[in-house]
Amino acid sequence: MSLHLVATCALGLEAIVSRELANLGISDARAENGQVHFQGGPEELCRANMWLRAADRVWLRLGEFPAATFEELFQGTKALPWAEVLPREACFPVDAHVHASLLTSLPAVQRTVKKAVVECLQQRYQTGWLEETGPTFPIRAFLVRDRCALMLDTSGSGLHRRGYHTMNAPAPLRETLAAALVLLSYWRAERPLVDPFCGSGTIPIEAAMIALQRAPGLQRAFAAENWPLVGSKAWQEARREADEAFDRHTTLQILGSDVDPEVLALARVHLRQSGLEGRGIRFQRQDIADFREDREYGVLVTNPPYGERMLERRQAEELYATLGRVVAGLPTWSVYVLSSHPDFARHFRQPVSRRRKLYNGMIPCTLHQVLGPPPPREKRGVDGNHENR
Ligand SMILES: C[S@@+](CC[C@H](N)C(=O)[O-])C[C@H]1O[C@@H](n2cnc3c(N)ncnc32)[C@H](O)[C@@H]1O
Repeated sequence: MSLHLVATCALGLEAIVSRELANLGISDARAENGQVHFQGGPEELCRANMWLRAADRVWLRLGEFPAATFEELFQGTKALPWAEVLPREACFPVDAHVHASLLTSLPAVQRTVKKAVVECLQQRYQTGWLEETGPTFPIRAFLVRDRCALMLDTSGSGLHRRGYHTMNAPAPLRETLAAALVLLSYWRAERPLVDPFCGSGTIPIEAAMIALQRAPGLQRAFAAENWPLVGSKAWQEARREADEAFDRHTTLQILGSDVDPEVLALARVHLRQSGLEGRGIRFQRQDIADFREDREYGVLVTNPPYGERMLERRQAEELYATLGRVVAGLPTWSVYVLSSHPDFARHFRQPVSRRRKLYNGMIPCTLHQVLGPPPPREKRGVDGNHENR
């Protein structure tokens, strides 16, 4: 069975999601505007949900057609093979996303799609009434430039919900973006990793999960777990594989620090809930101005205040200058700083080797990268990459 699957992600993370899929053995991925398309069967659907760290959701795409009128939308939807996926008792809420199209009313688009799916299933199952008491198949219509793609959400709640992050500090970083920052740094378990503005601990915990091969989906449920098309065997196999891959021995050198004791309390709760306590992840109270580090060849990944939501801009700029002085004292380290401040580099005053545009929710940001020298005798990464020096 070959299914058209789509992993959606924040703009700018398509290459990371494609790399994650390649590491799962899925090499035919095609990326475009926050979507990564790939083919696979139930096994790939389950493994993608279980393992993708930077993607928001995994969708099963049923088809796409022109939809400049409600009649086209209705007929195009009805013609898709809904009964191949939805059983007679399926519950199927419909949601819509509309952009640059003649049809603009979300409720009208949702109603039309719902009506078309109902008619399709009623004809196929020879019934005048659908109970909708069975498993849920969330449908989303993506109507963009008068073309409608219809997708089923196989994930349910967003993939950033790993299960450990239950309490929000101000301006937390999404787990998916935190994981992407660590993946972009090519950090590996043998090196120290530090986040000196760690807040509720998302970057340190995501880094630990990556290093210990702890699948992000191991502690959670997915919408497609009850879908007959996917079957329970593929899910059991994906969970067994994830459980076996988890490294239960390695001790890491990860430090998260922050000036605010309240957010550090949340970080410790999250660490406990992640099940990674005692694996070399520490949280400590420290102002960036007092930051000291004697170890060499570490990786600093951080998301300081932007001066938009948390502090006044001037205060954020002073923090960037202080961070710059800290980084100047770490000549063997590689540094990755995510900020939306347009003049970050001017205040930071360190030579930024590379910049990458990313989105933190709706906020356009830049990941500033200062690449340090390669650690002595460092071997090549498993995937052959050696970007982080
Ligand atoms: C954007 S938040 C980081 C959010 C974090 N990534 C998370 O997922 O929760 C920035 C953090 O910087 C901290 N901070 C502000 N001023 C600081 C300073 N002088 N030294 C250290 N941390 C500071 C704040 O307490 C806040 O937790």
